[in-house]
Amino acid sequence: MKLTLKIWRQKSKDDKGFFKTYVHNHVSPDMSFLEMLDVLNTELIKKNEEPVHFDHDCREGICGMCSLYINGKPHGPLQTTTCQLHMRSFSDGETITIEPWRASAFPVVKDLVVDRAAFDRIQQAGGYVNVNTGGVPDANVIPIAKKLADEAMDAAACIGCGACVAACKNASAMLFVSAKISQFALLPQGQVERKERAEKMVAQMDAEGFGSCTNTYACEAECPKGIKITNIARMNREYLSAMLSSYKIESKGGGD
Ligand code: FES
Repeated sequence: MKLTLKIWRQKSKDDKGFFKTYVHNHVSPDMSFLEMLDVLNTELIKKNEEPVHFDHDCREGICGMCSLYINGKPHGPLQTTTCQLHMRSFSDGETITIEPWRASAFPVVKDLVVDRAAFDRIQQAGGYVNVNTGGVPDANVIPIAKKLADEAMDAAACIGCGACVAACKNASAMLFVSAKISQFALLPQGQVERKERAEKMVAQMDAEGFGSCTNTYACEAECPKGIKITNIARMNREYLSAMLSSYKIESKGGGD
């Protein structure tokens, strides 16, 4: 396959950036999108040109690092991660436009690499459970209804790639944050910090500068892991309930 690639090049966070066009003659339909970029980079290095910087780690659809905006869609034409996208999804002779995620909370580090540390800080604010250490507990010590276990696992499938933010016209991170809140709120192990978690994670999300959800469903449509927008409704209920109980405690002077 022969492709024309319009790739965003940006030297640093403060650089203006521009699209550079490359003609790529050595593309196999069986290559993954990232392998196609690897081959391009090998050619650029041979010509003493600066390779295109892009993020990746597992290349198995697990880590969420490969965040590319391809032809105006996060992760490209299929609802999968960029590393799981193959060149057979494109046509010979096609022009492909490749950009980094666009959101002020995800500043560009270089070329196609963005800084997604905002997600880490949201997780650090409350996306954890405290557990007693010790021996491995017996299976079924805490019975959990299958429906709840399934819903929690579906929410936990979020890999934090940020496609939801990139897809949203408001750059909202609510699909990500709601998945992380839901995976614990649905399980007995997540109950101890339940209220504190919702309050702190939502506060951190706002502090990072992400926008609000206006129910366009763009995030759900683009999420490579099929995270459902119903998690956002759950997050809103969790947050409201946490705020109401904090208000009750405060108005009683800190008592119960
Ligand atoms: S490189 Fe890990 S999900 Fe794509």
